[in-house]
Amino acid sequence: MKTQLVKEILVSEPDGRSVTINGWVRTKRETKNLVFIQINDGSCFASIQITIDRDKGISAETEAEIKRITTGASVCATGTLIPSPASGQAVEVQGVSVTVIGEAPVDTYPLQKKNHSMEFLREIAHLRPRTNTFAAVARMRSQMAYAIHVFFQEQGFNYVHTPIITASDAEGAGEMFQVTTLDLERIAKNGAAAEAKKEPAVDYSRDFFGKRAGLTVSGQLEAETYAMALSRVYTFGPTFRAENSNTTRHLAEFWMIEPEVAFNDLDANMDLEEAFVKFLMNWALEKCAEDMKFFDERIQPGLIKTLTAVANSAFGRVTYTEAMKELEKNADKFEFKPFWGCDLQSEHERYLTEKVYGKPVMVYDYPKDIKAFYMKLNDDGKTVRAVDLLVPGLGELIGGSEREEDLAKLEKRITDMGLDVADYWWYLDLRRFGTVPHSGFGLGFERLLLYVTGMGNIRDVIPYPRAPKLADF
Ligand code: 4AD
Ligand code: MG
Repeated sequence: MKTQLVKEILVSEPDGRSVTINGWVRTKRETKNLVFIQINDGSCFASIQITIDRDKGISAETEAEIKRITTGASVCATGTLIPSPASGQAVEVQGVSVTVIGEAPVDTYPLQKKNHSMEFLREIAHLRPRTNTFAAVARMRSQMAYAIHVFFQEQGFNYVHTPIITASDAEGAGEMFQVTTLDLERIAKNGAAAEAKKEPAVDYSRDFFGKRAGLTVSGQLEAETYAMALSRVYTFGPTFRAENSNTTRHLAEFWMIEPEVAFNDLDANMDLEEAFVKFLMNWALEKCAEDMKFFDERIQPGLIKTLTAVANSAFGRVTYTEAMKELEKNADKFEFKPFWGCDLQSEHERYLTEKVYGKPVMVYDYPKDIKAFYMKLNDDGKTVRAVDLLVPGLGELIGGSEREEDLAKLEKRITDMGLDVADYWWYLDLRRFGTVPHSGFGLGFERLLLYVTGMGNIRDVIPYPRAPKLADF
């Protein structure tokens, strides 16, 4: 039997046709003669109402099943689709029969009341998709992933699958989780003795990959190798960072979208970022209207207005040096005093995009010492062609750059940053053979979801968040 989704039934003609609904009960209400059951199957925000009229005669079996129906129970109901007399819904189902598939006992099913705290729901991450909020987030996540593929595929980008396990630290920041099959307990026991003999405690030639390996922090370097062959590529996959950041905007496992484009300079890169973000805002507003209405009403009032404005206005573009002048003028407003050369703190980023510019702003040409080794050096010898997109309410949404395409300059940057050129031999080959100017960026998928849903904590826009001391489920 082919089941129909509630979202399909809700837009069908209420012409008395027979329908079968499978889903989970949100509420049951009873009067003497009437039973109202709201069934939700997660296919859309709305539930469908089944009305059973005892006066019309119902079977003894259905009467017995009604008694077993509680919030959270799974049911199968059949009836006829009719125009609804109730306001707020166009159609409803005049129930003929209903069967409980699985009970959800009132005394043990945790999702009884309506407004559970986000903290409580995080503890039952396996059940939270059954709430309105988390089902809406899950649908948005899926829709935005789809939108991302549409955006790139329509412009001739090829989707490249870069490795999850890698030997190279793409950001050179030392935040890789290690992947090993070595017996860590034995190494720990022998470590002290080895150290005393001034021998390395770990012999990586005996490890699974024959060398030290880890989980990728970014697919960029491998994406660059394919951009040097296919011109326009993008990656979209999980990335991992062992940074000890316990904030509402950081995860240890997050998904990142990284386009990489041959022959693009920094300006073209900024154009692509802006077009990409605007496309995603429009997609959310147009294709996810029902869920967006909920986020706008219940999660972040004014959200739709904000996203509409973002989709329709030009983003700001300022150099780091100009931005720093603005920050220095307002130095008294910050806990961390800004100065030329410092990395922008979250408070600085927010101030720039919210107070100074009042819209999304792309800050570019950062001091070289606070950015990754692969970024193209400007002629001033002090700054690199980096660009971060900062958005109100969030701060950094995208980090990107034009890449250094000159072999000698890149080798020098790698060495100056205390990294080993030998580790990057294949990456340097791109500059040895047919090098071209190229650029790209990384959009944090969960940051995007925070932005479009208005949710307050990044742990609530990914099904199973991983953060320091958090890998339950
Ligand atoms: O600025 P990041 O570190 O840039 C890169 O990884 C480059 N390789 C991208 C590129 O040029 N191809 O990270 C890019 C974005 C950030 O702007 C942020 O949105 C997100 O990834 N991000 C995180 N999101 C959640 N949790 C974390 N710990 C994140 N770290 C970065
Ligand atoms: Mg960054």
